[in-house]
Amino acid sequence: MFKRIDPKQLQENVFSLIGDKWMLITAGTKEQCNTMTASWGGVGVIWGAPAATCYIRPQRYTKEFIDREEYFTLTFFGEEWRKALSLCGSKSGRDVDKIKECGFTVQTAECGAPYFEQAELVLVCRKRFAQPMDPANMPEDVKEKWYPQKDYHTMYIGEIVEVLTK
Ligand SMILES: Cc1cc2nc3c(=O)[nH]c(=O)nc-3n(C[C@H](O)[C@H](O)[C@H](O)COP(=O)(O)O)c2cc1C
Repeated sequence: MFKRIDPKQLQENVFSLIGDKWMLITAGTKEQCNTMTASWGGVGVIWGAPAATCYIRPQRYTKEFIDREEYFTLTFFGEEWRKALSLCGSKSGRDVDKIKECGFTVQTAECGAPYFEQAELVLVCRKRFAQPMDPANMPEDVKEKWYPQKDYHTMYIGEIVEVLTK
């Protein structure tokens, strides 16, 4: 059902794609994976390759999966899945089987990375960089507004190895 396209063929506006539409960050295996909603991130170019960035706080269960695995996926959905994305952004996989609750069907990319059949766009990413953001390099207003609990995000950069669309 999905077709593979070149990243340069992507037509969507990335600001609304990530910021308004939201995405699921998913990592693990077909048998055991976890997913969470994110609305912060980016798409661009680094080290001579198309890349996506995302930011994950230390307490997220998904972080354990993304840290363990070489690959992760970013998936984007139609508006009819907004409720599911809200659930994946408010419940932890530690407590709830979110994939089952949402009715998602797990598929795997060539590299084995899990994604959901119900998505309309999939970015398959190979993790190339991970680093906790250092509060010493953040402005005071950002620390006050976003990190009252000092739970600084880890930044991940993934090389986009496959773009799948319907
Ligand atoms: C719209 C939206 C955007 C979010 N963006 C992020 C994000 O960029 N980074 C992050 O760490 N958490 C983000 N969250 C929170 C996680 O999705 C949420 O804590 C989730 O329950 C974590 O699930 P997990 O523990 O199964 O990984 C967002 C939540 C929502 C609803």
